[in-house]
Amino acid sequence: MRKYENPELISENKEPQRAYYIPVGEGAYQSLNGTWRFQYYERDFEEDYMEKPWGEIEVPSCWQAVGYGDINYTNTCYPYPVDPPYVPTENPMGVYEREFEVTDVTRKTYVVFEGVSSCMELWVNDQYIGYTTGSHLQSEFDISDAVVAGCNTMTAKVRKWCFGSYLEDQDFFRFNGIFRDVYVLSRPKGHIKDIKITTCANKVLIETDGRGTVSLYDQGQPIEQKEFCGNVEFEVKNPTLWNAEKPYLYELVFSYAGETISQKFGFVTYGIGDKGQFLVNGVEVKLKGVNHHDTHPSKGWTMNDDEVMEDLLLMKKLNINTIRTSHYPPTPKFLQMCDALGFYVMLETDLECHGFISRYPNAWQYDCVGNPIWLTNQSQWAAAFMDRMERAYHRDKNHASIFAWSTGNESGHGDNHYAMLQWVKQQDPGRLTHCEDASRASFNKDCVPIDPSFVSRADLFSTMYPEFDFLQRVFAHPEFKYPYFICEYSHAMGNGPGDVCDYWETFYDQPNFVGGCVWEWVDHTLLVDGVPKYGGDFEGEMTHDGNFCCDGMVLHDRSLKAGSYEVKAAYQYMDCTLDGNQVTVHNKYFFTNLNEYKFVYQIKVDGECICEKEMLLEVAPGEKCSFEIDLPKRASLGAYIICRLFREDGWCVAQKQLELPTVWEKKERCEIPCMATEDAHFVVFEGEGFKYTFSKDLGTLVDMEKNGKKQLLSPVQLTSLRAPIDNERRMRKEWMWDGPWTGENLDRQFNKIYECVLNGNCVTVKGSLAGVSRVPYFHYELQFAVYADGTIQTHLNGQVREDCSWLPRLGFEFRLPYEAEEFTYFGMGPGESYCDMYRAASVDMYESDADSQYVPYIVPQEHGNHTKSKLLQMRDSLLFEAETEFDINVSHYTAKMLMDAMHWDELHKDTATNVRIDYKDSGIGSNSCGPELLEKYRLKEKEIQFTFYIS
Ligand code: GAL
Ligand code: MG
Repeated sequence: MRKYENPELISENKEPQRAYYIPVGEGAYQSLNGTWRFQYYERDFEEDYMEKPWGEIEVPSCWQAVGYGDINYTNTCYPYPVDPPYVPTENPMGVYEREFEVTDVTRKTYVVFEGVSSCMELWVNDQYIGYTTGSHLQSEFDISDAVVAGCNTMTAKVRKWCFGSYLEDQDFFRFNGIFRDVYVLSRPKGHIKDIKITTCANKVLIETDGRGTVSLYDQGQPIEQKEFCGNVEFEVKNPTLWNAEKPYLYELVFSYAGETISQKFGFVTYGIGDKGQFLVNGVEVKLKGVNHHDTHPSKGWTMNDDEVMEDLLLMKKLNINTIRTSHYPPTPKFLQMCDALGFYVMLETDLECHGFISRYPNAWQYDCVGNPIWLTNQSQWAAAFMDRMERAYHRDKNHASIFAWSTGNESGHGDNHYAMLQWVKQQDPGRLTHCEDASRASFNKDCVPIDPSFVSRADLFSTMYPEFDFLQRVFAHPEFKYPYFICEYSHAMGNGPGDVCDYWETFYDQPNFVGGCVWEWVDHTLLVDGVPKYGGDFEGEMTHDGNFCCDGMVLHDRSLKAGSYEVKAAYQYMDCTLDGNQVTVHNKYFFTNLNEYKFVYQIKVDGECICEKEMLLEVAPGEKCSFEIDLPKRASLGAYIICRLFREDGWCVAQKQLELPTVWEKKERCEIPCMATEDAHFVVFEGEGFKYTFSKDLGTLVDMEKNGKKQLLSPVQLTSLRAPIDNERRMRKEWMWDGPWTGENLDRQFNKIYECVLNGNCVTVKGSLAGVSRVPYFHYELQFAVYADGTIQTHLNGQVREDCSWLPRLGFEFRLPYEAEEFTYFGMGPGESYCDMYRAASVDMYESDADSQYVPYIVPQEHGNHTKSKLLQMRDSLLFEAETEFDINVSHYTAKMLMDAMHWDELHKDTATNVRIDYKDSGIGSNSCGPELLEKYRLKEKEIQFTFYIS
């Protein structure tokens, strides 16, 4: 058996995992980041003899991101046969080598690797040091006996795969190499090794194996100093408690023989209340979370401190208070930053065996319970499972931000998991435990218990992507008292997630709805010549999952999309309601008074601000306050109040728009009919400054002249398709599958005109829409009434076929000259908005242009809609208005162009400005992995009535 295929040989000569710290002192720390000599081999060899490496590589880095080996993205499927513990015979290997200096050999010398994939053997001065597995876990080796004063050589052999790869089947690009920091530590003999800090009421309990002095600091101010040998305690009078909103930290500084170690800690307790609520310091808190992977658009898994910090600061801006480190421990500094910035962290260890579900052809089986093929049920793997829990716990145990330990993801559930749960609970009874697989093994999809005893093995009941009605049933169930954490929901792939606010509006008041984490933070991609690429784009991928890695709530470059703002709105800590002329503001922070923010409201009538006021609201957490406003008397488009809350730096943390009751002033419309002339094929309306031509054969407007300028590049079309979004992967088949038996074929539709007659000033068309090879899905009557001022009143009245699926959208497409690209609209903006993704938008009068409507989703798809619109004025061109709300879209791309492109560089601009005036657009949802789009957001009504005006 090869060493790296032995699941019982987890490491050799590695130091026991200790709490993370970097000691400070003269010469204590030496970074080994930088250029190493490197040789990449397509297959590995085990002999000790190694050819000296001659290439170069930067450390830290991922091989595949710097040009070594094949790039591969796979989700569940293992990129090799499922034959544990064996990995492919052709197992690529990288040999690293570099020099480092040691000045004092009387001291202890260690080397720390914060992350190496998948396993590593280490030599110093050709002396074998040891071996490690567990890619996202830290490993430390004592190299004191191997180093000499002066120059030393370190050699590391890293294999692409080892038995541990079976435990690392997370949904990500499969990278390898020394991808996190490496450093040498020089430490005094007899130094402290491990430190465990716990707090209990106002006491600080320190368990250590060392000696020296320890000082306690409060915000940099020394409070007390003690000599210690072994355990030691402090007492803090009235300690300030830590929580994610007010992350107050204390510091302990340990000194011994010229070396100091700092450990920050907080006074915080986590627990579950009697109704299943999640409690922080006894206060009920909701976990507004996101799943986080380490990913960089060109460096893969390697992220530096600034990049990690940037992610966390952006999360703060988006009101996220919880992070699940899916599905492995992040770099240790991540936790220090979470302590300081304030997040509740679910620290998940490096463990996922998802590929077992697809080990047989044509089957997808989560058949883990009691099945010996799953590693969680095999005793030879027990130590490897436990090692991952232990090392995660020991490295990060002192962080105030960690509220729960998670045993990993999608690995089935069995004895090995149970042992991890029991062990970690025993080490750390003050924090919660999480194992989604335990809940999954307990209930089936219909909420019928299979073996409820599994649930209670962890503190949290947890599922991913639950259906809404499952949640409703669970919360309504009188015996269901578990704290319910949705470890993954609102799959944020592409344009989305849509319905995220629904979860929070529907379940917020349910005490045991403790919250959840959006899947996931950021799109994973690798940039090739500036174009984001994904699974299937690389040579040599034996299996891949396409663009399923592009499912972040922010784009790969951390730019925000409508879905990012929607999550921000769902998580915001302020709500406002209106009763008559009284506005009530609800403070939904758990620990923060609203007086820490600037509150501003504006009243706007038809897009014009008639009143603006800044206020300081004294509202304690969870409390409400009210004030009165003067209601506007009249409005013709709409009257609204918008309330906003600002941080000190001007960032708006919360916004809520409410429609105000007012007298609706109907726009006066010309009632003088415009006279028409007709021949066998055309009807022409002509008046001052306009000339409109209808084709009787096509049943539509084919030409519009305004002020002598042609406005239409092609006839106006009634259509129902939009370029499917990622969330419509499944619906795509119903709409446009090109197999002979499925789909309405909306992408190849026919508009049949049965009749087109002129009656006075009105052209009436009877027609139907049908996909190729199908019966019509829509029968309609369309009336165009033209008035003397050039206004066309358009009225659509139709019926959708009873058994037709819901429609992506329904409305009219206008192809205007490219130059008509600038426009003004009254509707939901300024970003794109859909009927289930608009909480971050607001109704107002906006100016924009077609180019700024474009959203660079990694796979081009539908975007740029504005819901709840009432007016669209194309600059120097047509004006569209309605008395009811409609959806608009202005774009330099057609649905077909978006559908045909799979990457940015395959998308080329149209020579027209395309305008959609839609009766309705369906919602966005999160069905790419989550539940089907909620019924209420589907365009599923059978009777359609839509009136709008063109002028
Ligand atoms: C979940 C899994 C995640 C991710 C997601 C799909 O089942 O836990 O890791 O794969 O699906 O994007
Ligand atoms: Mg998975």
